[in-house]
Amino acid sequence: MQLTTKERLVLALDVDNFKKAEELVSKLNNYVGVFKIGSQLFTAEGAKVVNMLNERGGKVFLDLKFHDIPNTVARAAEVATKSGVYIFNVHTSGGYEMMKAAAEATKKTSLALGIRKPLILGVTLLTSINQEILEKEIGIKKRLEEQVVHLAKLAKAAGLDGVVASPREIKEIRKACGENFVILTPGIRPAGKSSDDQKRIMTPREAIKLGADFLVIGRPIRNAFNPVEAAKEILKEMEGD
Ligand code: C5P
Repeated sequence: MQLTTKERLVLALDVDNFKKAEELVSKLNNYVGVFKIGSQLFTAEGAKVVNMLNERGGKVFLDLKFHDIPNTVARAAEVATKSGVYIFNVHTSGGYEMMKAAAEATKKTSLALGIRKPLILGVTLLTSINQEILEKEIGIKKRLEEQVVHLAKLAKAAGLDGVVASPREIKEIRKACGENFVILTPGIRPAGKSSDDQKRIMTPREAIKLGADFLVIGRPIRNAFNPVEAAKEILKEMEGD
């Protein structure tokens, strides 16, 4: 996607209340392109966080990973579209019909309202799933990367705009799904910073060079002594060659 560096930076608003979210948005709106609202904040505060961001001109990634029967997911997709989010996501393991229902409902709703269609991203395999869990617990006897690419291709065929992927998977997904397929990646750590609990990390520059469209970053900005400076540093790293 053709985006500015700022537009590619997604801040994970992993906080438990409205006030903390609002403070982060006020502080970082000029340095971050998209704010990610996940299940913790959404369960605590609901749609009012989305409305607050809309009022302040901030773009929202609603990270609720819908996974249900096609009709239920389509109805949730309609509501997400009406609320004006920029990106939302679904689990690709919900299957082709579920993803297609979400894509169609989103298109129809945005056309009817005359608003920009949100980007729908598919979650392939969670990065907490490793080869052993995939085989022993989920019962899929395939190489993990192969399964990720399989699900990314299924998402594309069903009409999704892209996927959420680990930085390690960017290259193969880009090759299999083409230039226009959107890739958003977490697990990013600026050079020389703590990896927290992330195991397979990459620097902002590496991920951009590999072809990521959006980078999701949380703790390295939120927990920094000066979050604005941390965001500026990351933007600089994303741009550097
Ligand atoms: O604080 P940190 O930069 O690790 O935050 C990353 C964000 O991306 C968190 O909201 C986390 O839930 C999310 N995420 C992730 N790995 C995935 C999918 C989402 O870290 N595979």
